Amino acid sequence: MQQTTHDVIILGTGLAGLRAAVEICIRARGNADIGIVSKVQIMRSHSVCAEGGTGAVMRPEEGDSFDLHAWDTVKGSDFLADQDTVDRFVRTSPDEIRLLEHWGVPWSRREDGRIMQRPFGGHSFPRACMAADKTGFFEMQALYDTLLKYGNFRRYDECFVTSILLEGGRFAGLTLIDAPTGEFYILRGKALLIASGGLGNLYGFTTYSQTVTGDGQAIAYRAGLALEDTEFLQFHPTGLIPSGILMTEGCRGEGGYLRNNKGERFMEKYAPKMMELAPRDIVSRSEMTEILEGRGFPGPDGLDYIHLDLTHLGAERINKRLPLIREVCIKFLGLDPITQPIPIRPVAHYSMGGIEADINGATKIENVWAAGEVACHSMHGANRLGCNSTAECLVWGGITGAEIVKYLAQGPKLSDVPEADAREEQKRIFDGLLKRNGPENPAQIRRELRALMDRHAGVYRSGESMQQGLDKIAELKQRFGNIRIQDKSRIYNTNLIQVLETENMLELAEVLLFAGLAREESRGAHARTDIPKRDDEKYLAHSLVYFTGGKPRLEYKPVTITNWKPVERKY
Ligand code: FUM
Repeated sequence: MQQTTHDVIILGTGLAGLRAAVEICIRARGNADIGIVSKVQIMRSHSVCAEGGTGAVMRPEEGDSFDLHAWDTVKGSDFLADQDTVDRFVRTSPDEIRLLEHWGVPWSRREDGRIMQRPFGGHSFPRACMAADKTGFFEMQALYDTLLKYGNFRRYDECFVTSILLEGGRFAGLTLIDAPTGEFYILRGKALLIASGGLGNLYGFTTYSQTVTGDGQAIAYRAGLALEDTEFLQFHPTGLIPSGILMTEGCRGEGGYLRNNKGERFMEKYAPKMMELAPRDIVSRSEMTEILEGRGFPGPDGLDYIHLDLTHLGAERINKRLPLIREVCIKFLGLDPITQPIPIRPVAHYSMGGIEADINGATKIENVWAAGEVACHSMHGANRLGCNSTAECLVWGGITGAEIVKYLAQGPKLSDVPEADAREEQKRIFDGLLKRNGPENPAQIRRELRALMDRHAGVYRSGESMQQGLDKIAELKQRFGNIRIQDKSRIYNTNLIQVLETENMLELAEVLLFAGLAREESRGAHARTDIPKRDDEKYLAHSLVYFTGGKPRLEYKPVTITNWKPVERKY
């Protein structure tokens, strides 16, 4: 089997992956050779869709502080965030903003020429550094341009990774399918960084690109790494009806209102101080309560909605600060937000959980790191604050890049590749999956899975609904054994890739519901109608789910609390 070797393999080319690649190039002064793998082309990574901003303390002299950012993040997390991790994050993110400034991000500016920061939910100071409403796009562009200056990397675009090969408990290589040729081969490395993003396509109504299917989480899970805090799935309060496209929190940061079918700004009832800029878990629950109690608007396919009203902001502000939002509303709905309210509802947006990783991004496998949404550094706990995600990608991209260079400096050996495992994996895919000729349509299974997650693991869930969801996943897994892949060829077999994604999604959906059912409390984004209270006695703890091949295994580990004891969250 063909093998290619690099010092470092980076899986994922979003903000975290590119930021890590740049850090490695700079620190290793061109002496580390990097293989960068993506199932899409670099600039098609989902990070380009990030809109509203990147959170950082940039103005201590105007009243912001690291402590305030840390406190907002910890309180927003419903006290499940590890406080040492949060502290490191808030102290590092301003440097990332300055680096990106040097690398060419065209930040929006205030009158005085300083970087503009808009208010975001749950933050008690305007902290979202912004490039209008296309922040992720510009950040990606700047990182990619910067990476091109160094050149000591090779791109593996449109390559789908199917497994992590381990030898003696260490990372040895990845098996992958090169989509354009259909070739199956091994990519070897002394170190691996997993930075492959989220898993939002587990849901039907989502802000995510179709490509975001949790492949990195799934291969890590099967390789023995724990998935941490997966029950905490964030619903962003403003997903456009009916596509789910993100209507950035920046809309509310710029002063937008949420209104029910009576025209009321209903957030008055739920978060009288912060109103529309309360944290996302609270705003999403408030919207759902309005909808469930009959104060929403009837929408297509059961997607009843709320109004996001920007009409009082005026054309100039909308055109300058929210041009993408206006363009999307016009193109997708024929609606101009300058004059008409936008139909929105809570939408699956972000996974607080992910591959268990420590404060340095190190996983429990000696030479594997994780950064960005794929990872759980326990930084967001049970609910992430808006604009802390792009910042996290940059911060832990930088940290893991630096850690990997330190590791390489110790002169680690390349592990032998367990070729038998690789051949087994090849057989499983090309002699097994691809040749299946059963009656089940895999696309239908994927559709049913996503609808099931919308229904059974939504903004509100209960023990009963999650158990029903788990039962249905078990059924879908059985049916998956009887699929038929229509396209039996090798070249650009997107049928096959989608089936591999669906297999990953089935695994991750089970993990999410399994951890959710076991967590008998409500905390952050995990809101149980049958157990509405937080239970710090029993569940001030991170869940860890392990792959067993049968029923997953669940453990808990304590939360690191340094400064702030849990209190009731009021906004
Ligand atoms: O609303 C937004 O622009 C999303 C930002 C985020 O998820 O941090």
